[in-house]
Order: sequence, then C-alpha cells, then structure tokens
Amino acid sequence: MKQLKIDLADRSYNILIGRNLLTRLGDHLSHLKSARRALVVTNPAINPLYGKAVSEGLQSAGLAVECVEIPEGETHKTLQDAQTVYNHLIANQYDRNTLLVALGGGVIGDLTGFVAATFLRGVSYIQVPTTLLSQVDSSVGGKTAVNHPQGKNLIGAFYQPRLVAIDLDTLSSLPADEFRAGMAEVIKYGVIADPQLFAFLEKNSEKILAKDTECLAAIIETSCAIKARVVEQDERESSYRMILNFGHTLGHAIEALTHYSRYKHGEAVAIGMVYAAKLSRQLGHCSADVVGQIAAQVERFGLPSGLPEFSAADYIETLYRDKKVHDKNIRFILVKDIGTVEIVDRVSEADIEKALTA
Ligand code: NAD
Ligand code: GLY
Repeated sequence: MKQLKIDLADRSYNILIGRNLLTRLGDHLSHLKSARRALVVTNPAINPLYGKAVSEGLQSAGLAVECVEIPEGETHKTLQDAQTVYNHLIANQYDRNTLLVALGGGVIGDLTGFVAATFLRGVSYIQVPTTLLSQVDSSVGGKTAVNHPQGKNLIGAFYQPRLVAIDLDTLSSLPADEFRAGMAEVIKYGVIADPQLFAFLEKNSEKILAKDTECLAAIIETSCAIKARVVEQDERESSYRMILNFGHTLGHAIEALTHYSRYKHGEAVAIGMVYAAKLSRQLGHCSADVVGQIAAQVERFGLPSGLPEFSAADYIETLYRDKKVHDKNIRFILVKDIGTVEIVDRVSEADIEKALTA
C-alpha cells in the first residue's frame, strides 16, 4: 500500500492507494477518535459490490454503521438527494461525532462532502472512491457540491475529507467507458505537470486499458501526488489551482451544450484538451508537435477528440455562462510544452472562434 499526505495544516489528510483496503479501513481511522457512528452514502449499483466490505472495515474500528442509498447518476447530485441524507441523519439522531463515508464515484463523493460540510455546521467525512475519475481527481482536494437546475456544482463548499482510501480492486467492476473517461484526467496531469507520466501513458496504454494493477497503482499515485501538491499551494483556487482545469473550459461548454447526456465528463475534457492545445498553438504558446502528441494520447485511450457541431456563437455564449467567468473574462489554461501550462486571461472571442473553426 502507498500512502501520500496532503499537507493543509489542520486540514491535512492521507491518501491511501492499495488493494484489499475496504475491510481494513478501520486500521486507518485512529485519528478520528471522537467518531462513534458512521453513515455510508452510496448508490444501489455500488452498495451490493462494496457496501459490506466497507461496513466491516468501519465496524472493526468500533463504529456503529448504517447506510443510505442515493439513486445512481449525475441527475441525483441535487439538494433533494442531499436532503435524503440529512433526513436519515436527523431521524436517527446523528450528532457531531458522526463520520460520513462516501462510497462511490464523483457524484457520491461531491454530494457526501457537501452534506458533511453542512450537517450540524460540519462533520468529518472520508472518501472511498470507486471510479478512476474519483480516484485521481474528485476525491482529493475538498471541492464538494450539488447541482442546481441552472448549472452544475453551483451549490457547494471547500471542505476537506479526513482520509481518501483508494482500493484498486474496485476498478475491476468499473465499465470500460467509465474507465476511459477517468483516463482523460490522468492525461491532464501529464500535460500540466509531468512529461514522464505522459510518456508512461504512451508506452503502457495497452496494459493500462487492461487494468494492470501495477500500472494503475503508478498512474493513480502520480496523479494524486500532482493534485495534492497543487491543492497544497492553492486550496481555494485563487489562482494556481486553475491549472487543474486544463481542457475543462471548453469541456464544460460541451457538457452544457449537449445537456450532460452525450458525453461523460472525461470525454468532454478530452475534446477540450485537444481544443486547448490547438488554441495554444494558434496563439504561439506551443508547437504543432505538442498538439499532435496530446491528440494522439487522447485517441490512444479511446477518447473523443473532435468537436461536436455547434456554431462558434453557441460555444462562445455557453463559455460566458460558465460559473467561473466574471467580467466577460474567458480564461483558458494553455499548454507550452508537455508538463508546462499557463493560465491565460481574456482570450478574445475572435481567437476562440478561429480555433473552433480551424
Ligand atoms: P459517477 O460518480 O456518476 O460514477 C460513474 C458511474 O459508475 C455511476 O453509474 C456509478 O454508479 C458507477 N460506478 C462507480 N464505481 C463503480 C465501480 N467500482 N464498479 C461499477 N460501477 C461503478 O461519475 P464519476 O465520473 O466518478 O464522477 C463524476 C462527478 O464528479 C461529476 O459530478 C463531477 O462534477 C464530479 N467531479 C468533481 C471533482 C471535484 O474536484 N470535486 C472533480 C472532477 C469531477
Ligand atoms: N477538479 C479540479 C479541482 O479540483 O480543482
């Protein structure tokens, strides 16, 4: 088992990466001395696979364990679904010594973190991520949220978990398309911070897609380490953390334009990364070779790279609606070379349009 630490003063925590971790969760909760009761939040697809092992792991630390299920899918990351968890907590008289346990992908993780941030003004929670995307990205860093009908993640809080326990065995049941979507975020880490990771992905794509455990451990550990270092420097995304949004500016617009139904988040990010690379090239930030490398990597992992057909006007209008856009400032993370990116403000509509239609 590998152990990484994310150093955030009194909000520091460990990220564990290994196999057969679920039943041994209790071995890693000694810092949560006041916790008496744990509520596992999960969904009906994941509970039958991993709910029992997680309950056993928590019980071995002397916790009384209950479970609440939220229906599966992004459409259930809402205040109403959070209310299901609050209702259970209140009806069963949970107090501040409660431990919430997010068992699932990013939907469950974001929602559980949001409930933890708000129930009784904040209780402890841990992340037990079961998708590749949640293992390399959403479980680490403390962004919690639910969606609003007007947009994704509009209601949320920065609230760090007390532990992230990544059990590689859970990926064995993850459908291939979900696995590939998670790979988009791994590719992102290579582009923003780590040419060696990028080269490792090029060399080992077949083994990775076959879920070779050693390869998975390596790429998940490297990804989490990169994310941890970024979050340590800028926990609340005042600036530097924005580099984690490479590929996300256009990716979010693609998700919104296709009503969050045609593409998985990672697929939209993959298209967004290739677009951001082309825009970088157009603006003189990188060479054509870098664009080619990023596009080839995306395609190597079976991810889409071509833009869905919307007009430039539709794209630009949707970019302006993003929650991160203020004062008509459309910001892109542009690539200079594999491993180096820069945050570029006020990219003009004309430049965005030129890259969209190139
Ligand atoms: P998800 O949580 O919807 O999970 C994808 C699907 O896989 C679901 O149907 C789920 O039931 C199923 N599943 C999960 N684990 C499984 C397993 N081991 N075996 C079989 N099936 C399994 O999707 P996701 O991609 O994990 O997360 C997407 C969410 O994450 C979005 O809501 C996004 O906004 C959020 N997100 C948050 C952050 C952050 O920093 N907080 C970062 C990136 C994404
Ligand atoms: N997923 C981007 C971030 O955590 O900042």
